[in-house]
Amino acid sequence: MTPEKTSKMPVELATRTIKAGRDAARAAASCLAGGGLVAFPTETVYGLGADATNADAIARLYLAKGRPSFNPLIAHVGTLAAAKKIARFNEHSLKLAQSFWPGPMTLVLPKAESCPVSDLATAGLETVAVRIPAHPVARDILEAFGKPVVAPSANVSGHVSPTTAQHVSDDLSGRIDLIVDGGPVDVGVESTIVGCFGEPVLLRPGGLPRAEIERVLGAPLAQPTEEADTSDAHPLAPGMLASHYAPHTPVRLKASHLEPGEVLLAFGPALSGADPLRVLNLSPRGDLIEAAANLFGHLRLLDAREARAIAVMPIPDDGLGEAINDRLRRAAVPRG
Ligand code: TXA
Ligand code: MG
Repeated sequence: MTPEKTSKMPVELATRTIKAGRDAARAAASCLAGGGLVAFPTETVYGLGADATNADAIARLYLAKGRPSFNPLIAHVGTLAAAKKIARFNEHSLKLAQSFWPGPMTLVLPKAESCPVSDLATAGLETVAVRIPAHPVARDILEAFGKPVVAPSANVSGHVSPTTAQHVSDDLSGRIDLIVDGGPVDVGVESTIVGCFGEPVLLRPGGLPRAEIERVLGAPLAQPTEEADTSDAHPLAPGMLASHYAPHTPVRLKASHLEPGEVLLAFGPALSGADPLRVLNLSPRGDLIEAAANLFGHLRLLDAREARAIAVMPIPDDGLGEAINDRLRRAAVPRG
């Protein structure tokens, strides 16, 4: 869905931005309690939060993002005890939760019997996505609110995920109530999503490298089926919608040279002969952690140049490279 299609909101809201702090956590909690929409930083990307138990608030969240309604949301909580009220854990999921929470990992689990998360947020599925974020600002807000908060990335659906409060404001100003500005985020790509409703399966590569998860499980993670990865109609982890992380400018991958009119997203030593004014480097020293943190911000800046295409240098697939390449492949899917 293009942002243009969803730009007509019934009412224009006066979006406030406040600096993170104790007052901000209190303001965020009271806004959430009133059914409002609050953007806040997590360690991965900025999230757009709503009360996970309030279907009206969630409906407004889908509307603000222009998100297809079949795309379910992650419920964020502050503690494992709170997570257990939402979802059922087995041996595998408990091990992962204890090893990696708080942190950049989401678990998709069978719903608990009296799961308080609205059916609208889980898109009617029997499973629910849960995460305990590590960012202190997110944790303060969750603690002040005391209930689960659903939070997709705080961008217009189909757009690049936000890593600063300014990105959130660029996309959602006038559509949401509050933005809590906690500065740029650390990780820069979304959480890794692991399904633990059968054998553990990697639903979305992300901020926690696959190898760390496999080390704790002592076995390789299964891959989702081919169909789940490509079907827009019934996506398994619909971050997997084929074209999801999308700048407006076409993206050309594995570039070894720069065509006329293109700008370059570089990694490692820059291409010889490329005009430095047309280049942004994810990590001149070839560090994948630094590259992940820069990915969405650089894509936005290059997109704003209105070039013929964004050429992207090859990026190794290990560690966070798997998540970076996944996002870049989606950004490169041709759109009509
Ligand atoms: O890092 C993150 O995960 C960020 C921050 C804000 O926490 N959130 C985020 O949310 O990326 P979102 O909504 O952009 O992506 C959540 C993904 C979607 O692909 C969604 O379809 C998938 O999680 N998901 C949610 N519930 C699911 C379920 N029950 N089964 C399978 N996939 C699910
Ligand atoms: Mg998203």
